[in-house]
Amino acid sequence: MKIFSGTSNRPLAEKIAINLGLKLSDIEVFIFPDGEKRIRILDKVTGEDCVVVQSTSNPTDENYMELFFIVDGLKRSGAKSITAIVPYFGYQRQDHVFREGEAVSANVIAKILDALKVDKLIIVEPHSRKTKDAFTIPVLYLSALSLFVKTIKEVGGSGTLVSPDMGGIVRIKQLSESLENMPYAVIEKNRDLSTGRVSGSHIEGSINKNVFIVDDMISSGGTIEMAAKLLYKNGAENIYVFATHPVFSGNAPKVLQESLVKKIYVTDTIFVPKEKIFPKLGILSVAKMIAEQLKM
Ligand code: R5P
Repeated sequence: MKIFSGTSNRPLAEKIAINLGLKLSDIEVFIFPDGEKRIRILDKVTGEDCVVVQSTSNPTDENYMELFFIVDGLKRSGAKSITAIVPYFGYQRQDHVFREGEAVSANVIAKILDALKVDKLIIVEPHSRKTKDAFTIPVLYLSALSLFVKTIKEVGGSGTLVSPDMGGIVRIKQLSESLENMPYAVIEKNRDLSTGRVSGSHIEGSINKNVFIVDDMISSGGTIEMAAKLLYKNGAENIYVFATHPVFSGNAPKVLQESLVKKIYVTDTIFVPKEKIFPKLGILSVAKMIAEQLKM
């Protein structure tokens, strides 16, 4: 097996390779003065099972193009099979038409990966279980929930799991089952589609003084900020957050650091640069889990 990495999350790709006892294979990413990229596969891959690791986080479009070009380069160089590991699958939230006239971006990406004849796609914690429906190629979901179970037990174990929106209900139920039926509650969240601002005033279910908010991703931090305020108003004292993907757009790190939350755990599906690290942040790694999957 040969493992290649795009430029979006090389540290994760390196950790996956180490877990497999391998080294990353060589690739050249040349950037022309106008920003276009030329990808060249430098290792021999004829007849090899190849893996490409590329998170399609910001800059999403650039990272997708790199992924497409790497896949094409591998195909042309004679790879026997290509597994694309896209730990964070960009555009997944736009998986249907919310308002008349909108494009369904997730479906467009699926069509391209289908057309490139990727043999298998692995995504960590998809926004919706329906993400794979847009593809004809096999899509496998991995989940960071097992990492969260372990950390919740280490943090103290008892409390209430909270989903900050109705969309997270399946996730929270799964987690509850893995934590001996820990009670859970759900916040009724509303998002203004033109401004992106979130609001929430009602919690479905009762809460304990220890709460564990669980979400698939944190982008602006607005959802967590809103949820923490509402939970605090309703008696929560120790608020912890578990979110798989640290999208961290704009000034999210500042919003999160200044929020009522004690600690925020994310994973390394998206690389968090030094300037976005803040004291309340903890990063768990999905590398071992991905490597285990590749061994199967
Ligand atoms: C929304 O449905 C997602 O599950 C997240 O709650 C959302 O994307 C977080 O975004 P933000 O941090 O901007 O509120």
